[in-house]
Amino acid sequence: MSFEFDRIIDRDPKYSFKWNRYKGRDIIPCWVADMDFAAPESVRSAISEFNQQGVLGYLKPEEYDEGRQAIVDWLEYRHGCRIPEEWIVWMPGVVPGFNIACRAYSEPGDSLIVQTPNYPPILQAHKNHQLESLAVPVLQTDNGAELDFDLIEKYAARSRSKIMILCNPMNPNGKVLSPESLQNLGSICDKHELILVSDEIHCDLIIEPGVKHTPAFSLESLQHRSVTLMSAAKTFNIAGLGVSFGVIPDATLRRRFTKAANGLAPWANVLGLLATTAAFNGGRQWHTELLNYLRQNRELIKNAINNTAGLEMHSGEATFLAWIDARGLGHADPQQWFEQRGIGPSPGADFGADGFARVNFGCSRKQVQLIIDRL
Ligand SMILES: Cc1ncc(COP(=O)(O)O)c(C=O)c1O
Repeated sequence: MSFEFDRIIDRDPKYSFKWNRYKGRDIIPCWVADMDFAAPESVRSAISEFNQQGVLGYLKPEEYDEGRQAIVDWLEYRHGCRIPEEWIVWMPGVVPGFNIACRAYSEPGDSLIVQTPNYPPILQAHKNHQLESLAVPVLQTDNGAELDFDLIEKYAARSRSKIMILCNPMNPNGKVLSPESLQNLGSICDKHELILVSDEIHCDLIIEPGVKHTPAFSLESLQHRSVTLMSAAKTFNIAGLGVSFGVIPDATLRRRFTKAANGLAPWANVLGLLATTAAFNGGRQWHTELLNYLRQNRELIKNAINNTAGLEMHSGEATFLAWIDARGLGHADPQQWFEQRGIGPSPGADFGADGFARVNFGCSRKQVQLIIDRL
């Protein structure tokens, strides 16, 4: 079977957030976490077949058994955990998921712990719920980025600390937490009765050989105090369909979560449910090839970046995002430096890290080469 990762798809900016930003300018958009690959054939045909009947009415996610079964099978296939179907809660996105969790498990005036740098909507979540944000900068170790457990524990011990939103694998730096690190975090959460909301949207995009993801729900210490948020959106490039799911083992936490979502979060939509199911059931070989393709893209990008004076690429165990330390350029505005060369990354400042840039290499090899040439 051959897959089409090399195919250049001329995306119409009218339908693409990513391509609209630099419309009409000779700048390659390498910013938002959206790949330029067509979704697997299984996804496209599931949507086309469904569209044959033309009726786009309601489908209640909880009544769509194939969807839950597809998630259960996928989690077993990818992460070796067979979960009961009732742990699954469909959501219209991971961002709504962690915001609903804030609403469910905290009150205005409480505190929310987050690691930094981080995905901007995680950094902003506290503002939506009148929470105090307790930011914990990740540490740079010989083994790459690591959580600062001492600071997390110090913050967790405060009486108004109720939740931590974890991003694992980390966006922007692509670091995957080891089982031991997650275990440490689990013990802190357990000791201080903190709810861990674990955003694991990038967990099926691990490209570093030998590195494995540990889902939060798989740890005993976290089973009664975690919400794990996952999605097929990044992995299978279906983010525009707005669909994700939470895995919440504890029945009380699950009830509180669904109650907080009631009337605010719409049901995951029918096309998203079908696409997730078709991706998990029929996209496995596509996914294996994708990881190989991304790994090669990463190697090319990493070599080019590390050979460019003033730039250094960090980690990159997971995702199609290169996290670049551009402070060595000595340029006041690294974003401008990249854009002047015809490359449009995400500014590090959006993630809470001035002097950094994030380059999306989820694109054809030809485009990766063009980025490298422009560097
Ligand atoms: C860490 C992280 N969480 C969530 C999202 C977005 O999730 P959704 O579109 O399902 O709300 C992204 C998208 O880039 C992300 O990187």
